[in-house]
This record gives sequence, C-alpha cells and structure tokens, in this order.
Amino acid sequence: MENMNILVTGAAGYIGGSVVATLLSGDTHFAAKNIFAAVRAEEQVRSLQPLGIKVLQLDLRNEQEVAEAVLQNEIDIVINTASSIDGRLAAHFISALGKRREVTSKDTYHIHSSVTTGYSKEGGWPYGTIKDGDPVYKLEKELNDGFPIRKTNTAITELAKERGVTSFIVGVPFVYGTGSGEWKKLSQNIPATIKASIALKTVYKFNQDSKFAAVHISDLAEYYVLIVKKILQGEKLPSGEEGYYFAVAHETGWWDVAQGLADVLRARGLVTEPTVRVWPSDDMAAEALDLPRQFVRLMHTARVTIDYNNRYPLGWAPKWDEQKFLASMDVEVADAFRYEKGRTTLFDALNGTN
Ligand SMILES: NC(=O)c1ccc[n+]([C@@H]2O[C@H](COP(=O)([O-])OP(=O)(O)OC[C@H]3O[C@@H](n4cnc5c(N)ncnc54)[C@H](OP(=O)(O)O)[C@@H]3O)[C@@H](O)[C@H]2O)c1
Repeated sequence: MENMNILVTGAAGYIGGSVVATLLSGDTHFAAKNIFAAVRAEEQVRSLQPLGIKVLQLDLRNEQEVAEAVLQNEIDIVINTASSIDGRLAAHFISALGKRREVTSKDTYHIHSSVTTGYSKEGGWPYGTIKDGDPVYKLEKELNDGFPIRKTNTAITELAKERGVTSFIVGVPFVYGTGSGEWKKLSQNIPATIKASIALKTVYKFNQDSKFAAVHISDLAEYYVLIVKKILQGEKLPSGEEGYYFAVAHETGWWDVAQGLADVLRARGLVTEPTVRVWPSDDMAAEALDLPRQFVRLMHTARVTIDYNNRYPLGWAPKWDEQKFLASMDVEVADAFRYEKGRTTLFDALNGTN
C-alpha cells in the first residue's frame, strides 16, 4: 500500500471525528503520522491532540491558510466533512490539491460529504430512484434548480476536473448512533427530536409517513475508510462525474422511529403518553426541533429513493440494519443526555449564516 497523507476536515464534528477515529482504529491501522485533522477552535485542538495525529486549527474560509496547510503538510487525500453546502471550503482544498499535484506530479484526491435528502420528490428530485453508477452529475446539471447541495456537488466535480484532482462525492443519508470522535458524538436529527419530545412531554410526527435512507455512524466512517484504502492500493475507482457514491445501509420509516422513541421515552417517564401525535403546524415543529421552517418537513418526511442494493463494489458490509436501529432507541435517548456538546452547523449553513 502506498503511503499518503490524509486530512479530515470537520474533524471535531460528528462524522469527521468518527472518520478520524476509524482511520486510527485497530482494524484499519493507518499510521498516526499520516493523519491530519482540521478543526476550528483551540479547545478542539486540545481534545484531538492526544490521538498523536497532527491537528491543524484552520479557518477553512481562508484560501491562503488552506493552501499552506495542504502544501506544507504534503496532503494527498482530503476527506471533507466540514460542509455539504458551502462549496467554498471544498473549492479551497481542491485548488490546493491541484497545486500539490502540479508540484509533485502525484495524484491527489478529494472526497466530499454530500446529503441524500435532495434525491427525493420533496427535495425537488424528479428522476426517481438512483444508485451508484447512475449519471447523477448529468441529472443534477440538467435540473439546474439551484438546490444548494446539488449546486455544490456539480461545482466541486467541475473544479476538480479543471484542476486535475480525482474527486468523489459521498451521498450521506440520515446518520444515527453514537460517534467515536473526540469532540462531538451525536448527530442532529434524533437528539433534536428527543429534546423536543421531552420539552413538550409528547412525541410528534408529521402527517405524512415514508421510508428514508439511513446509516449508522460506525458503518459510515468505515465507508470513507474503504474508499481511502482503495486509493492507497492503487485501485482506479469511478471518480469525477462518475464518482457519486451513496453510503446507504438500509431504509427505515419516519413513523416507526417516532413510535420507537415514544415507547422508550414513556418507559423512562419522560413523556406523558405512548401515542405519537401529529405536529399541529410546521411552525411549531420548526421551533421545537430548532430547524429552519422551510426545511423542517423535508428533513423529517423526505422519501429518499436510493437503490442501496446496487452499489459500487467497495466491499462495504454495514453492520447495522433497520431492525437493529429500531431496537437501539434506548441508547439514542441515553446518549442524547450523555453527550450533548455543540449543535450541528448544517442549519446555519442552510440559513446562510455559517
Ligand atoms: N449528521 C447527519 O445525519 C448528516 C447526514 C447527511 C449529511 N451530513 C452532512 O455532513 C457534514 C458533516 O455533518 P456532521 O453531522 O458531522 O456535522 P457537524 O457535527 O456539525 O460537523 C461539522 C464540523 O465541521 C466544522 N466546520 C463547519 N464549518 C466550518 C468552517 N467554515 N471552518 C472550519 N470548520 C468548519 C464544524 O466546526 P465547529 O465544531 O466549530 O462547529 C464541525 O466540527 C455536514 O455538512 C452535514 O450536512 C450530515
């Protein structure tokens, strides 16, 4: 296996932190000297430093800072988990990786974390079910609807092509479970529902049910690591316009999750009844769940249709399925209390305030 330096952005976050931990874990054995973590705050630097990796405190909006970090640390692969929406952050890394390629003539790689919510009717996707290997880039271009995540995906793919950087877009579905990162251990969706349910003493759902695509955080982190391993083994993976990968392990119903939470919260005496009620209004839901009004329904009802049985052959074997997920609601509740640290930056980005 070739030796390459790997930088993870958003390494204090839920996904990025778990990716760093998985790269370093027993099964994987990447040397700490080859792992770099980009974080934003001094306290996050201190939290990650005991891992023995190089922790960089970077303002990812500063192109110069990012370029210096990539060139001085001889970064070959960037795993970008800092923002699915703010394409500037990815663009800074892709430009820097392009420069490094020019200087060294070595291939460089950018792995971007995207969101699958847009591949639903509710998210304005008219093409139905998609899978790895479908012409998703072309469809996004054709649609050209200004949906922020699609716009970022296509812009990244085009910039990478122009700069000679090998690029991958990982479509990340709904992520659940306790992360293994040093800083933020939890995602947004389920902890927010738990918090709202306790505050209102009732679990609420939207009046529309559907299935949604999901993955446990440990399986997702493993997914990124598998892509990195293939790169290091010199395997030519589909990339660029063909480089859309969907890290979907299974589907689950929104109402099943709500009922599972209601049962567990009722057993703990945290809600007054086991019945799940329908949100009286989207405004009330948005306020209780701390989500922008225009996205709250999408984030909790979207029917994301990804054919997860037809994947690129990465050798991914997710350990979590729907049954295991629905049986883990008590852990979700316990950990929502145990690990409350920080709020996801996703919704600030959607509001344009990040
Ligand atoms: N969690 C999910 O269920 C899910 C599902 C699909 C897609 N995604 C996408 O995947 C990405 C990561 O998700 P996550 O759940 O890991 O979010 P997260 O916990 O909020 O992690 C994001 C990390 O990136 C850092 N960051 C954001 N903007 C930055 C900037 N301008 N400069 C430097 N650092 C910056 C944040 O720093 P601070 O700690 O300082 O805020 C945070 O540590 C997000 O874009 C999200 O949309 C997540």
